[in-house]
Amino acid sequence: MTGPLILAIESSCDETGIALVEGGRRIHSNVVASQVALHAPSGGIVPEVAARAHLRWIVPVLDEALETAGAKVEDVDGIAVTYGPGLAGSLLVGINFAKTLAWVHDKPLIPVNHLEGHVYAAWLLDPAEDREPPPFPLVALVVSGGHTFLVEMRDHLTYRFLGATVDDAAGEAFDKVGRLLGLGYPGGPAISKAADTAQAQDRVFPRAWLPDTYDFSFSGLKTAARRIVDQARVDERLPDPAEPLPAPVTAELAWGFQDSVVDVLVTKTVRAARRIGARGIVLGGGVAANSALRMRLAGEAEALGVPLIVPRPALCTDNGAMIGAAGALRFEAGVRAGTELDAKPSLPLARATDGA
Ligand code: KG4
Ligand code: ZN
Repeated sequence: MTGPLILAIESSCDETGIALVEGGRRIHSNVVASQVALHAPSGGIVPEVAARAHLRWIVPVLDEALETAGAKVEDVDGIAVTYGPGLAGSLLVGINFAKTLAWVHDKPLIPVNHLEGHVYAAWLLDPAEDREPPPFPLVALVVSGGHTFLVEMRDHLTYRFLGATVDDAAGEAFDKVGRLLGLGYPGGPAISKAADTAQAQDRVFPRAWLPDTYDFSFSGLKTAARRIVDQARVDERLPDPAEPLPAPVTAELAWGFQDSVVDVLVTKTVRAARRIGARGIVLGGGVAANSALRMRLAGEAEALGVPLIVPRPALCTDNGAMIGAAGALRFEAGVRAGTELDAKPSLPLARATDGA
């Protein structure tokens, strides 16, 4: 593979990720230090704790990424870094680290939008993998802990918004309902695991269709989940919320909730793909690690006759490689940042050359 070798840094939330990616596709290394265990006791991310953990791990993560790739910072063509959206304190750790590396080694600094990274994870190739890049036009569904949106792409780095969540992100709903079911943090993987063991699949949760739009809403589902879980407690004669529901009931409720989220996400994505005449569907973001979502979307994409391109689960959740994939295209488009680069906690997804 040819193309620029990019050193990419991701620290927008609770994972410290550094990767070396060649030509926007080939992963040479991709090291992620996860803070899941650190935040589990509080049931969510504590921003101050997250920023400190990034500071603690960023140098060892860089060392491992370089060692695995057998490269030095001098060998790379550019240094890409997530500058938003995300937690300000966490973003700043990565940004300042990237600026310092770029300055010391005299390398170009490339600002990357985290959401663009989730889209571009679909272009990544593992060391022995070979596959055509996703075809344009395509629709991309990004579902993460902080974002849920559907875009049309007719070319690289150019997005037309089709719809987005009007309230909670899908991952946020998974995390909240996971807590409600006593499944711990993060809720997504725990709900998925519990749902896989459900004996009966007849607990139906409501769907917010928001007809005639590609928008999503998950806050009503969360409220409904609370009501359904409370009713299950009454049925099981377990009034004390500290007492867990029997595992089979928890599994059925997890399945019902997950089925509602997956149904709406898949139905709208497939409808959008059909409407725009997409030649491919891309799925990304932490919730794309969900096997029920992957399987259902794969089935419907096949029925439509278009490929579903979805990265393996570790590339769906936050990582440096996805920033390297988007970073290479931005590098080739001439996008650069200087020492003034600042964290943009609410950065929207826009054309790469707009206001970067
Ligand atoms: O993309 P990501 O790693 O971080 C953000 O940018 O937000 O996404 C994290 C989210 C969390 O809400 C987590 O519960 C969810 O992705 N998630 C899952 C699964 N794995 C992670 N949701 C459903 N099923 C999964 N297997
Ligand atoms: Zn993310």
